[in-house]
Amino acid sequence: MKITRQITTILLGGVILGATGAGLGRAIAQELDAETKARVERFEKGPATIDVSKYPDAIKEYYELFSHKCSQCHKLSRPINSDYALPDEWSRYIKRMMYKPGSNISAADGKKVYEFLVYDSSIRKKAMVDDKLTKAKPEDKTTNESKIKELHDKYDAK
Ligand code: HEC
Repeated sequence: MKITRQITTILLGGVILGATGAGLGRAIAQELDAETKARVERFEKGPATIDVSKYPDAIKEYYELFSHKCSQCHKLSRPINSDYALPDEWSRYIKRMMYKPGSNISAADGKKVYEFLVYDSSIRKKAMVDDKLTKAKPEDKTTNESKIKELHDKYDAK
């Protein structure tokens, strides 16, 4: 009886340690496949800051949050110079980052970072946004366009 309990404890301990170790290992080592590695290196070349001086005050504030939250594990230049520009792309990638162990990004923060990145892309990456919209399926084009418009309606001076 006693021995069985000890074995169970050891086995359980091993499972827990193993799981924690794997999670930590992933977060720290950031082992990436060759293609992803090449892509993120390409993204990281280029400016590490964004000139937000002409953006609305709320968007300036969200930029501070973005700079803080999105530079914890990699350079801020990675999202700044990435190929992602449409609302749906940002929504997918921000969620992906939020789910990473130790990301420390709340749902409310995620929404602000999303609003910043979509607003910024619509101005700084306008050519990329337009190109992606041209190539998108009609229904995706419409939803992405209305998400961008919604943000400008919300934040731009009337
Ligand atoms: C907990 C660590 C962590 C945080 C915090 C984090 N990232 Fe990342 N990010 C990663 C890792 C690891 C990768 C490598 C590729 C992957 O796993 O998606 C990555 C990759 C990326 C990529 C490139 C993805 C690709 O495959 O092309 C972008 C863009 C990005 N992050 C944006 C962001 C943004 C925006 C934020 C803030 C909301 C953020 N990251 C916060 C860990 C993090």
